[in-house]
Amino acid sequence: MAEEKEQMRASCEYLTLTDEYPPPHTELDGPATEENSKYQEVKCSPNVLQMLKAAESRCTPQSQDKEGEEMTEDGKGELVTEALKTDMQLQLTDQKQEFNKRPIKAGHRSLSQSISQSSTDSYSSVCSDSSEDGSSPRDKLQKTSKGSSDFCIKNIKHADFGRREIQIAEQEMPALMVLRKRAGGEKPLAGAKVVGCTHITAQTAVLIETLSALGAQCRWAACNIFSTQNTVAAALVEAGTPVFAWRGESEEDFWWCIERCIGTDSWQPNMILDDGGDLTHWIYKKYPSRFKKIKGIVEESVTGVYRLYQLSKAGRLCVPAMNVNDSVTKQKFDNLYCCKESILDGLKRTTDVMFGGKQVAVCGYGEVGKGCCAALKALGAIVYVTEVDPICALQASMDGFRVIKLSEVVRQAIKTWLGGNIWTE
Ligand SMILES: NC(=O)c1ccc[n+]([C@@H]2O[C@H](COP(=O)([O-])OP(=O)(O)OC[C@H]3O[C@@H](n4cnc5c(N)ncnc54)[C@H](O)[C@@H]3O)[C@@H](O)[C@H]2O)c1
Repeated sequence: MAEEKEQMRASCEYLTLTDEYPPPHTELDGPATEENSKYQEVKCSPNVLQMLKAAESRCTPQSQDKEGEEMTEDGKGELVTEALKTDMQLQLTDQKQEFNKRPIKAGHRSLSQSISQSSTDSYSSVCSDSSEDGSSPRDKLQKTSKGSSDFCIKNIKHADFGRREIQIAEQEMPALMVLRKRAGGEKPLAGAKVVGCTHITAQTAVLIETLSALGAQCRWAACNIFSTQNTVAAALVEAGTPVFAWRGESEEDFWWCIERCIGTDSWQPNMILDDGGDLTHWIYKKYPSRFKKIKGIVEESVTGVYRLYQLSKAGRLCVPAMNVNDSVTKQKFDNLYCCKESILDGLKRTTDVMFGGKQVAVCGYGEVGKGCCAALKALGAIVYVTEVDPICALQASMDGFRVIKLSEVVRQAIKTWLGGNIWTE
């Protein structure tokens, strides 16, 4: 085990990034740098900690319920709170990082920011992230009912629960389901070996299983250490897709999973489906000959697309790449419509406060800000907007919001920053 870790570290060192290629969201250097420790010092405000404690105490009696019995064994209450604390720190940390490194107007999205709230708000993603004995999935030998052990997830026994979650998501994704029906017989993706790195949620599971239904072979890892729905990962594995991911991976686990996912000598990918560019980056740096054999890359995130452009500018992108991020439907759904539902859901779960009558300042009236303001208004909040772009400020005003300077809001309970990140206070 120690030897394996050492190897991973060596690989990480090998992957030192060049200037043209911006760093991935997690440090590859292993040990904490001065920069890292600076971020680790970022703490939740006392108010938030108080709210988290309150949420924890509410969690405890619930976890003693009969229905929640299984999750109680998993240490649900504690984990919910821990996850919330970590997420909060992560957001604050990333905010610093983003603003130190990136131009404000570009609206780049780091991986950790790109956790879609819908990926973290399901029961399973929040609560079932611990195995019974608390050991790392890497130390456990698990097998599917068919005897395969080519995967690494939290608990294969949760596959049935995950399947139910996927079935619900299927009902909300009719386009993919129709595609399965129409093209499933022809298997247009036969021969495609897709290695993927996205949030592993019920929704992405529908995508992965659609690719499989169309004839592709898929292997999947998580693009974010916090967002994996463990039950969904189990369902995917049980149905035959090798998945290497669990909620609460360490940074080292993250790269280990990617390495395992990329394949063995007998299975090498010819397509990449990436969210954030970490997987692409790993293959590009560590397996240059395999990278050259890739037939296409699909990239979902602002960050990943930005990295691909950098590679392209440097004349080193030898593979066709598709920028999904800039498609209108992706932008509208990922930002405006999803955030309309998910940001408030996330805020309510973390703070557990009512929004009716609260004064809320939303910083930034872009895609996300617009969705957020609409949702806040619907909940009865008094919404203020700050903007640096006069057109967006005008839009906010015409939509009925008061455009202000942040310094004018003296007693607001909640601030929602959408020029780059989000926090509550
Ligand atoms: N699910 C998620 O967590 C998720 C999803 C999508 C986007 N995001 C992130 O949310 C942020 C907003 O995304 P978007 O699509 O709405 O971007 P956007 O570019 O459409 O909007 C950003 C707005 O913020 C404004 N702004 C910039 N600096 C400001 C400042 N100092 N004060 C006030 N306003 C300022 C800009 O003028 C712009 O109107 C981005 O950082 C994005 O990465 C998160």
